Amino acid sequence: MQKLAELYRGKAKTVYSTENPDLLVLEFRNDTSAMDGQRIEQLARKGMVNNKFNCFIMDKLETKKIPTQIKKLLSDNEVLVKKLDMIPVECVIRNRAAGSLVRRLGLEEGLELKPALFDLFLKNDAMHDPMVNESYCITFGWVSKEHLERMKELSYRVNDILGKLFDDAGFILVDFKLEFGLFEGEVVLGDEFSPDGCRLWDKKNLAKMDKDRFRQNLGNVIEAYEEVARRIGVKLD
Ligand code: C5P
Repeated sequence: MQKLAELYRGKAKTVYSTENPDLLVLEFRNDTSAMDGQRIEQLARKGMVNNKFNCFIMDKLETKKIPTQIKKLLSDNEVLVKKLDMIPVECVIRNRAAGSLVRRLGLEEGLELKPALFDLFLKNDAMHDPMVNESYCITFGWVSKEHLERMKELSYRVNDILGKLFDDAGFILVDFKLEFGLFEGEVVLGDEFSPDGCRLWDKKNLAKMDKDRFRQNLGNVIEAYEEVARRIGVKLD
């Protein structure tokens, strides 16, 4: 499937149209951003690692009956996906306190959260993705009540499936962000699942193995992503 026009260039991925109006190509770039895109660096191999990581995770989720937009891995940096009508609200599941939750509530990093928290953020770079809640989503018409319920249900199911997958490989799935869209009226998981959009700690020493290595200048960012990929069984080469 050939890439045609560039439709959208995000912070880490570029979206292209194809000859089929229902299909898109996502290109994973090496760009790595933090602080709402104010800091951007190129990390060699990142596009390839995240593309293959994402395909691996989405395939696992599909086998567990989570609908995803993935059709086929096209190349090291490209994947063919269904074109979704994206919902402008990000879903975050938190199993442990970290990141913005720690800053907002002054909690100790690593505090176990049972049951896991479900947060919603509006996708809006200019407003720094503000936190919102269900009634905002309904009142402002970002998503219907029924679709939001489905997003929540799917997010918790993803947490069960991936929490186990990472636990079996020796990692704690601390938190993660999901984005959904609509395809023929159905809520479908879109965007990506990679160490850019989740927190993973090594169970042995609580080492950060995700984008916090970049955010906090801990070094060896892609080496950590590759280590996670290797331990969960993603084939990179
Ligand atoms: O920043 P915060 O602690 O709320 O992030 C929670 C989780 O969601 C983290 O795993 C982070 O990487 C992810 N996230 C993301 N994209 C955003 C905001 C958060 O991938 N725009």
